[in-house]
Amino acid sequence: MLPKLFFVISTLISSFIFTTHSYNTQCLHHQKILLLQLKDELSFNSSRSTKLVRWNQSDECCKWPGVDCDAAGYVVSLQLDREFISGGIADSSSLFRLVHLQKLNLAHNYFNYTPIPKGIHNLTYLTHLNLSHAGFGGQVPAEISSLRRLVSLDISNWYWGSVSLIELPNLELFVQNLTGLRELYLDGVNVTSSHERRKWSHIISSYLPNLTALSLSGCGLSGPLTKSFGQLHSLSILQLDFNDLGTELPDLFANFPSLTTFSLFNCGLKGSIPPTFANLTKLIRLDLSFNFFTGSLSSMLFEGLSNLVYLDLGRNSFSGNIPHSLLALPSLLELDLSSNQFNGTFQLDKFLSLANLTLLDLSDNRLSVDVGNLNSTSYGSLQLKELRLASCNLSHFPNFTNNLDMEIVDLSNNRIGGEIPSWIWGTQLWYLDLSYNLLTDLQKPYHIPASLRYIYLHSNQLKGELHLTIPPASQLSYLSLANNSVSGSIPTSLCSATSLNSLDFSGNRLSGSIPPCLLENISDLDLSQNNISGSIPDNFPMLCRLQYLDLNNNTLEGKIPKSLERCERLQFINVGNNNITDSFPCMLSSMLRVLVLHSNRFYGEVRCHNMSWEDLQILDISSNQFSGNLESINFYSWKTMMLQIDEQLRYANSVVYYSELWSSLSITLIMKGTNSEYHTIWPEFGIIDFSCNNFGGEIPNAIGDLTLLHQLNFSHNALNGSIPNSFGQLRNLESLDLSVNRLIGPIPVELAGLTFLQVLNLSYNKLVGEIPNGRQLQTFSADSFKGNAGLCGFNLNISCSDSDDSDHLSPEEDENGEEKSEIEWEYVSSALGYVVGLGSIAWTLLCRRSFRERYFEKIEEIVDKIFYKRARRRRHERRRRQDFHSQLPTC
Ligand SMILES: *[C@@H]1O[C@H](CO)[C@@H](O)[C@H](O)[C@H]1NC(C)=O
Ligand SMILES: *[C@@H]1O[C@H](CO)[C@@H](O)[C@H](O)[C@H]1NC(C)=O
Ligand SMILES: *[C@@H]1O[C@H](CO)[C@@H](O)[C@H](O)[C@H]1NC(C)=O
Ligand SMILES: *[C@@H]1O[C@H](CO)[C@@H](O)[C@H](O)[C@H]1NC(C)=O
Ligand SMILES: *[C@@H]1O[C@H](CO)[C@@H](O)[C@H](O)[C@H]1NC(C)=O
Ligand SMILES: *[C@@H]1O[C@H](CO)[C@@H](O)[C@H](O)[C@H]1NC(C)=O
Ligand SMILES: *[C@@H]1O[C@H](CO)[C@@H](O)[C@H](O)[C@H]1NC(C)=O
Ligand SMILES: *[C@@H]1O[C@H](CO)[C@@H](O)[C@H](O)[C@H]1NC(C)=O
Ligand SMILES: *[C@@H]1O[C@H](CO)[C@@H](O)[C@H](O)[C@H]1NC(C)=O
Repeated sequence: MLPKLFFVISTLISSFIFTTHSYNTQCLHHQKILLLQLKDELSFNSSRSTKLVRWNQSDECCKWPGVDCDAAGYVVSLQLDREFISGGIADSSSLFRLVHLQKLNLAHNYFNYTPIPKGIHNLTYLTHLNLSHAGFGGQVPAEISSLRRLVSLDISNWYWGSVSLIELPNLELFVQNLTGLRELYLDGVNVTSSHERRKWSHIISSYLPNLTALSLSGCGLSGPLTKSFGQLHSLSILQLDFNDLGTELPDLFANFPSLTTFSLFNCGLKGSIPPTFANLTKLIRLDLSFNFFTGSLSSMLFEGLSNLVYLDLGRNSFSGNIPHSLLALPSLLELDLSSNQFNGTFQLDKFLSLANLTLLDLSDNRLSVDVGNLNSTSYGSLQLKELRLASCNLSHFPNFTNNLDMEIVDLSNNRIGGEIPSWIWGTQLWYLDLSYNLLTDLQKPYHIPASLRYIYLHSNQLKGELHLTIPPASQLSYLSLANNSVSGSIPTSLCSATSLNSLDFSGNRLSGSIPPCLLENISDLDLSQNNISGSIPDNFPMLCRLQYLDLNNNTLEGKIPKSLERCERLQFINVGNNNITDSFPCMLSSMLRVLVLHSNRFYGEVRCHNMSWEDLQILDISSNQFSGNLESINFYSWKTMMLQIDEQLRYANSVVYYSELWSSLSITLIMKGTNSEYHTIWPEFGIIDFSCNNFGGEIPNAIGDLTLLHQLNFSHNALNGSIPNSFGQLRNLESLDLSVNRLIGPIPVELAGLTFLQVLNLSYNKLVGEIPNGRQLQTFSADSFKGNAGLCGFNLNISCSDSDDSDHLSPEEDENGEEKSEIEWEYVSSALGYVVGLGSIAWTLLCRRSFRERYFEKIEEIVDKIFYKRARRRRHERRRRQDFHSQLPTC
């Protein structure tokens, strides 16, 4: 979070730099004409503009807002930042005839990725040029490098997680003649030459000896900070976030006596912090978070850094005790040591001597934080606004009985039992995470403040009925009470929380029906694993915002409400394991990605006019009473399952973070509502499960085009015809179950090429001939093939030369028909056990709102977790596969 704030602040700072003297002079007529022409040329939103819009023919032009002149009446400064200018600026613009300009600021406009105009080279007197966050794109023109008088240059164009749209093809040529530069901000400018990406440090230090501020965040740099960099003695601001400096930091810090801001967020740095860090006595802001730093900090002399205000060492591998020298930094405002390997016991009251501290984050270390010794005098003057002690082995709440009015409290993943204390509901609280504790109740009285937006109370032991009083003008946006033992009905008071986006009550003991008013504003609703009855209310509003609806495993009946049709943004719906009796819900949103109807009483054909669920990835309609021919289903319309990964990065309404640094992961995050919570569905993942229905007809060839399919289950139907050869194209298939149908003919040899296939079940069909040879198919046991009288081959231990006819009975089969059907039934159960198991994996792994991360955490942290999660998914799947035989639920 620090760097984000940092950018805002540095942007503010750089706009303040551009204040100029104004002379009480008359403007020259031709200068005025040029300015009026410029106003005419620019397209800007006159209802938002505060300067241009007030340039008025009849006035003295040197007094126009944003304009300054020199003594002779020439315009020397133009500050047109945040003027809602859109479109571009032509090289022939009147702007470039204001040749006396020394300062030009066009920051924070919307130039629509047009290139920076080359005409800029006419402005040879320019000393300050700010084109930051103005939406310029393309290549930075070489013409800027001829502006030899430049002292300050800012072309930063960087937003979190965004793709770089502006490129610098030659850094060395660019800075060669700009030797007078003191401030250079190129954040988000793509240094495209890989040679220069490595040599950047040398280039900068050779040509720009007088730099006081250098900011190259997200430039794609890939080389280390070199020794020569130590020549930049005047540096005061150094920001290199989001590059790959992949090595240890050289010990040069004694060379930067003036350094006040030093930011190396996410730079791939290793090793320990060099000892000369202690020489950075002017340091105000230090961010080393999201690197791989190791070692103990206890020898580090923080005492010398007495000006330090912001310190972020989070997400590294620092170990040992929390250094006590940190406690000698009286100016400290924000301290983040989270996600390291600090260990030992720490008394919280030690920090309370830092009177100005507003943020303290010790989460996710190996610490035991002792909150025991607090008394009201020890925190009397505390300013603390944000306290994060997740996974700190807390056994009770800190006893902040009064005075403290916190905004953010995260005490998740501890062992805190008992009641949630009343003091926690301060008047400014907007984020509260107490999830994964042992809490049983809320101390009364409690007053949910109107400021509160996010409440995470899931995975506790809260029980009994919930009486939530929602204050007027409540900002409540996210509420999770999942995995508790809350009983009674869903509180209708929630309906007065008009900002409520996400509500997660899953895994409780709620009963009664769904209050209709709840559906009016909500975008994500999870009521799964409860005891909710009645039918789903049919009152989704005209401007329905619903995106995610999980009602799995309740006792709902009736139909899928017709008004759900209005929910055009719906992407996820799971009504599995209920008692719904309806036909296939063709009217659902065309943005649908996940549809689960598993285990209900749906009936009829799966056939829709105009159904085009191009984004569909998971379709589970198993264990219902669907019928009809598979051939009549329009599998061609499920385009997402056919696409390759890169093409997936197109979802119009999902926010897609794609960055070169993680391109190999190609992650799609669907950010939901106000981003407080998100679901992750791996873009390259597809599942179709039609098992346990009454489908007939042949398996359509088109299935072979759904190349991203990972799991396909058509088992327990009445399918006939043969297995299409096109299945050989399903290169990602990991699980294929066609068992208990009436499939005939041989097993296509193409199946032998499915190298990811881990689960195969073709049993109990009428397949004939030899099981194809191929490494993958050889690995499956007889269970995968049994019950097919005409099959032979290695797996069944039946030699094909002995029996070319289809009369042969498989070993499991008996001449006695009764016994045969008994065996079959047993098999059926175990096969389905796997189906159900797999289904739940899919939910846990793909769609479950499982990460309790906060949207305002660094995006990389999310990415990081997903990466981790994905690895875990594989492990889980492997484990689950190993014991599927032992599970025995039924159809
Ligand atoms: C200008 O800004 C106003 C106020 O935000 C907005 O309503 C209007 O649509 C904008 N006009 C254009 C042309 O973008
Ligand atoms: C220009 O400024 C004058 C004096 O301040 C004012 O009377 C006049 O209405 C303004 N004209 C426009 C077009 O805003
Ligand atoms: C930077 O430019 C290179 C070369 O044009 C390109 O391959 C890369 O994707 C760009 N990086 C970013 C982050 O846009
Ligand atoms: C830098 O200045 C030298 C000498 O005036 C000139 O020859 C060279 O072309 C300039 N380089 C650039 C990139 O403008
Ligand atoms: C750097 O600054 C020093 C002292 O202000 C000055 O003498 C020198 O000329 C500057 N160097 C360049 C390349 O501008
Ligand atoms: C850096 O700090 C060390 C130890 O405090 C001190 O001996 C040394 O003189 C300092 N160097 C500079 C250049 O200030
Ligand atoms: C604490 O903050 C106050 C108000 O911003 C400031 O005046 C004071 O100097 C700070 N204390 C320290 C020790 O930095
Ligand atoms: C803390 O970690 C260090 C090594 O990182 C280890 O030597 C020490 O024993 C640990 N202390 C405790 C109390 O676990
Ligand atoms: C449904 O929920 C009950 C408890 O609410 C649980 O015991 C059961 O395992 C769940 N069934 C499924 C299929 O998730």
